[in-house]
Amino acid sequence: MNIKKTLLTLSLLSATQFATAGEVEVLHWWTSGGEAKSVSALKDMLESQGHTWKDFAVAGGSGTSAMTVLKTRAVSGNPPAAAQIKGHDIQEWGGLGFLASLDDVATANKWDSLVPPMVSDIMKFDGEYVAVPVNVHRVNWLWANKEVFQKAGVKVPATMDEFFMVGDKLKEAGIIPLAHGGQAWQDATVFEAVALSVLGSDGYNKAFVDLDMDTLSGDQMVETFRLFQKMHNYIDKNSPGRDWNVATSMVINGEAAMQIMGDWAKGEFTAAGKMPGKDYVCVPAPGTSGQFTHNVDSFAFFQLSDPEKQKAQQALAATILTPEFQEVFNLNKGSIPVRLDADMSKFDSCAVDSMKDFKATAKSGDLVPSMAHGMSTTSYAQGAIYDVVTNFFNDPNADPKEAAGKLAKAVKAAM
Ligand code: BGC
Repeated sequence: MNIKKTLLTLSLLSATQFATAGEVEVLHWWTSGGEAKSVSALKDMLESQGHTWKDFAVAGGSGTSAMTVLKTRAVSGNPPAAAQIKGHDIQEWGGLGFLASLDDVATANKWDSLVPPMVSDIMKFDGEYVAVPVNVHRVNWLWANKEVFQKAGVKVPATMDEFFMVGDKLKEAGIIPLAHGGQAWQDATVFEAVALSVLGSDGYNKAFVDLDMDTLSGDQMVETFRLFQKMHNYIDKNSPGRDWNVATSMVINGEAAMQIMGDWAKGEFTAAGKMPGKDYVCVPAPGTSGQFTHNVDSFAFFQLSDPEKQKAQQALAATILTPEFQEVFNLNKGSIPVRLDADMSKFDSCAVDSMKDFKATAKSGDLVPSMAHGMSTTSYAQGAIYDVVTNFFNDPNADPKEAAGKLAKAVKAAM
């Protein structure tokens, strides 16, 4: 073939490819075993459409570090194309005018009819979609190593009283009852589970959604702090600073008996080849059966001027809500699909229970937003709660009544 003709054909080919392919830089904090597997499914699906994925991973559970890095990048005028932003933060970023509208993709793909209104409300700023939901995580779970429980001859606890009784027996048997990582967000994750059991769903909402001062400083909150403090006797002395997935691996390998953590922990069990019912057990956190603390992961998209990058952003947004992606991602992540019509046939019993409870609690009023994971209130109020909770947990002489008073004051100052 004539060389000139070949070059012309090649350049025409790459020109057409170029016109439809763009790059998306994606900020996320999914770096543990199960998380990395899940996010790589998204990368593969985007790349199979000809686009390029530029990975911007910032390690650190619950995304605290990722959010700090994101602020620096955005303020310097160089935000990524997409970022894992969720809950109230979506409103905060929307209010600052950074986010791009996804309404075209949302209308074309009928998002309003695919996901529950409770979820689409979180994704919209000023009535327009600015984020796309990935999954629904349940936070109030307890993960238990089955063999450890069998050997110690005790039952997996269903109430706070049982937790302490079983914890004492496990300690006698030389096992760490509760695997925990001493980081503010993990302390808050356990704290909100205790609060849910003591305050009930209405009281929980009063405290962490309405930020009601009487509830934040009231007797039930004092009781929550009292029980939370008692739990400290059941964790090991090496917990400070430990990452959540390291704590999960202690349950996986039988060094510890239980962990109270959202179902991203299940992603670690799955990645380690463990099966629910056989190797481990998932039950609601003590005293919270019939209640569901939700945490919806999502991606928000930043306004960019490059049309190719915009196309790639739209492709990413559309991919996230496809049944194919919802299935493969959530099988690895430990969460449940966010689509109401999801086929659950490939999911394990924990996920099937979670979907059942998600739907039931949406009707009963027992579906509550996670404070620890940014779903119930602003990042300011959340930060204030984190500080009081973590300082309290780390001070063996702290007084529960004083702590409840401090909690109300700190939240008030952050409002
Ligand atoms: C996120 C999860 C993540 C977990 C641990 C949560 O806040 O919603 O997707 O796996 O933090 O990093």
